[in-house]
Amino acid sequence: MVRKLAVVLALVLSVTLTGAASSARPGAVGIGDPYYPLDGNGGYDVKHYDLAIRYAPATDALAGVATIRARATQHLSAFNLDLDGLTIRSVTVDGRAARWSRAGTELTVTPRRPLHKGGAFVTKIAYDGVPKVIQDPDLGDGGAFTTSDGVMILGEPDVAQAWYPSNDHPIDKASFSIALTVPKGVEALSNGAPAGRFTRGGWTTWRWEQIEPMATYLAMAAIGQFDVKSYRRDGIQFVDGIDPALPKATYDIVARSFAREPEILRFLSGYFGQYPFRAAGGVVDAEGDWGYALENQGRPIYTPDDFPTVEDGSAIIVHELAHQWYGDSVALGRWADIWLNEGFATYAEWLWSEHEGLGTAQETFDALYATPATASLWKYEVADPGAANLFVGAVYNRGAMTLHALRKAVGDKAFFRILKSWAQMNRGGNVTTAKFIRHAERVSGKNLDALFTKWLYTASKPATP
Ligand code: ARG
Ligand code: ZN
Repeated sequence: MVRKLAVVLALVLSVTLTGAASSARPGAVGIGDPYYPLDGNGGYDVKHYDLAIRYAPATDALAGVATIRARATQHLSAFNLDLDGLTIRSVTVDGRAARWSRAGTELTVTPRRPLHKGGAFVTKIAYDGVPKVIQDPDLGDGGAFTTSDGVMILGEPDVAQAWYPSNDHPIDKASFSIALTVPKGVEALSNGAPAGRFTRGGWTTWRWEQIEPMATYLAMAAIGQFDVKSYRRDGIQFVDGIDPALPKATYDIVARSFAREPEILRFLSGYFGQYPFRAAGGVVDAEGDWGYALENQGRPIYTPDDFPTVEDGSAIIVHELAHQWYGDSVALGRWADIWLNEGFATYAEWLWSEHEGLGTAQETFDALYATPATASLWKYEVADPGAANLFVGAVYNRGAMTLHALRKAVGDKAFFRILKSWAQMNRGGNVTTAKFIRHAERVSGKNLDALFTKWLYTASKPATP
């Protein structure tokens, strides 16, 4: 009897003490992206990722500890992280062992006690294994591409879940501390500014600090042999890495093109406003199986094929550095709006081409408009191309054409004010196409519905340019 009473009392007490317990629910398995329902998760907001990762090129094995600082946005009985492959060794929440389970790319963590809405928490996950390439026949592969001397980790949209547990969607940005530990003599590059390096027991740890908020897919690792060049210019810390195994002609073009990064950033700042990050640079590995350049925050990765044997490879650098404003600093709220990244970066190439005396933006537009109505350029709704078509040419080219049509409709002065204030007002944030349309209308004072319907939401060639 007495024992029974004690049990009841204990129950009553624990319910009042935990408070949130009764209303705590598991966080959603996805963050709500119509194209990628399982990407990201609900119920919390990540503030910071601390990734400590050891990588052994000889076995391609990785061992990591991810310490994730977050805030609960609901009373949480459990929450999910995204992780594809690898083996979990332990999970804690606020320093205490937590139960966890996995299903596909979803890692579910159940803390001992529910987490209170609004409360900060820290979860720490130890894991290891050989990270994989996430294959995508439609979009191209992402993930960990092993090379003969290391690994290159990059991709879009899915790459983060191949190498660290995360809330894997651009809408939940966070700052990052990334420490890569590799055998002494191997270089290990990542995002942001270098934060020191030390060697112990034959292993060197390279520390990187990405202080400005970053989308999960933009985190990268470039491990292998690189000639690393670091310098400060215009208040920006540049770090470039070039694989010494590149054929000499390619190596020289890459080095010459990378040397133009400060000039390119000054050019782009003139149109888009201040460069949004404190670090910059680029990386090229001699092996580039993934087949695309990517705008990893502060430090894009390129393939040797991005630098054909011409004198200058600056166009692709302009594209990836323009993404630092449009894509990285001003990030997507959902993947359907990918033209806000690719159309803008492509338009930056048109502006650069004009600046270099290689054809005006108008000429580029006219040449594209001359494509027959049956061409794939006209086959997509640019602002809703479908999940399998994120990176089709139309998103890039018709996206840029949309901006040029806007420019002609509102005039240069209003157009360039729209571009610059878009980058400045949404710096570090997330955006949608609807928000851009409202912004363009507010700045120009014009109703632009017909223009955007024609260019973004019609899967056929406009009758007039
Ligand atoms: N955003 C990259 C660019 O700058 C393209 C990424 C292509 N990604 C892919 N999975 N194919 O154009
Ligand atoms: Zn791009």
